[in-house]
Amino acid sequence: MQGPFTIVSYNGSVAKLSIKDLDLKDKTVFIRADFNVPLAPGGQEITSDKRIRAALPTVQYALDHGAAVILASHLGRPKGKRNPAMSLSPVAARLSELLGRPVRMAPDCVGPETAAMKPAPEDLLLLENLRFHPQEEANDLEFSRQLASLADRYVDDAFGAAHRAHASTVGMVSFFPQAAAGLLMEKELDWLTRVTKNPERPCVALLGGAKVSDKIDVIQNLMAVVDKLLIGGAMAYTFLRAKNEPAGRSLVEEDKIDLARQLLAAAGSKLMLPLDHVVVQELKPGAGWQVVSTIEADQIGVDIGPQTVEEYGRLISGARTVLWNGPMGIFEMPPFDKGTLELAKAVAESGAISVVGGGDSEKAIQNTGLADKITHISTGGGASLEFLSGIELPGVAALTEKAA
Ligand code: 3PG
Repeated sequence: MQGPFTIVSYNGSVAKLSIKDLDLKDKTVFIRADFNVPLAPGGQEITSDKRIRAALPTVQYALDHGAAVILASHLGRPKGKRNPAMSLSPVAARLSELLGRPVRMAPDCVGPETAAMKPAPEDLLLLENLRFHPQEEANDLEFSRQLASLADRYVDDAFGAAHRAHASTVGMVSFFPQAAAGLLMEKELDWLTRVTKNPERPCVALLGGAKVSDKIDVIQNLMAVVDKLLIGGAMAYTFLRAKNEPAGRSLVEEDKIDLARQLLAAAGSKLMLPLDHVVVQELKPGAGWQVVSTIEADQIGVDIGPQTVEEYGRLISGARTVLWNGPMGIFEMPPFDKGTLELAKAVAESGAISVVGGGDSEKAIQNTGLADKITHISTGGGASLEFLSGIELPGVAALTEKAA
């Protein structure tokens, strides 16, 4: 049932060219990766190398097929200026450890000094942060041309940045006869397409997070696909108010109540709201809490209650496909992470095809120690959310279609 897929398809309709379709021998390949990794203050220490590890299969594939490899990425949001705290140097060091071979670090991503460092076959060069130049985010044509002039082949493996129409994800593509997906990009698109276009049923989506406004498009799009939409997190309180139920002093988007009402009407019985809530009088670590089914005027909702955990858990256990994005409560303030952690466990133990996106959901899964039971944990937060919204990601649209 689970396993690698070789056909890359986007929105179930267009298959994209894969790195496996390219002739790489003795060619210089430009691989756009997403090495936007979290760094400890000061910018020297990588606190999670997950995105670096996720890029390894593509890099290794290119090296094994005799390519000279140029890697490029953004890191953070330096706003078009050089910032040593956002240098990709620590990524070069980590990459080198993981691959067991040297990774040379270029001083910049364009310019004569960088061009002079052109790698030999089976050699690796990591370019400095693309966003040190404002032209990257501006999708500037001349900057795109300069990046493209470094290589003979273009591969985009940066699923996490595929929702950005930047020079390295879109602009430079026009300078190559073909643009191919890397292995990570393929994997992300395969799983996300599969669960949103033709899921095994029952298909359940678990959506959390603070704001309805962040998830409107996702709810609208998934409504047409899934059998159940389970809502948690603070956005549930906006939905409660839309049903004329009290939410006390919980976080509510007052200006989105009408919209929540429309979403409820359109989704009908597919959309489920929490049956009970964990509430506090004061929002602070160590606050006394209780479980209620109706939130009183002076109470603040901070998590889903045990009855909700049981009912959502039951639906997740009976599902054959589960999509999860967003925490069920104030995950960063234990014990209000309990609902999220319990459902993380339910997702991992469901035996369903499970696709998880978003930082907190991923953290919750890691905390259960059951991450290896999840079919696919997306490396893209914003990108996976836009994909789930049904939006065509510009970085994906730019890739060459596979010949039929
Ligand atoms: C991410 O971390 O979601 C991607 O790397 C994109 O980063 P950005 O939101 O700064 O464009």
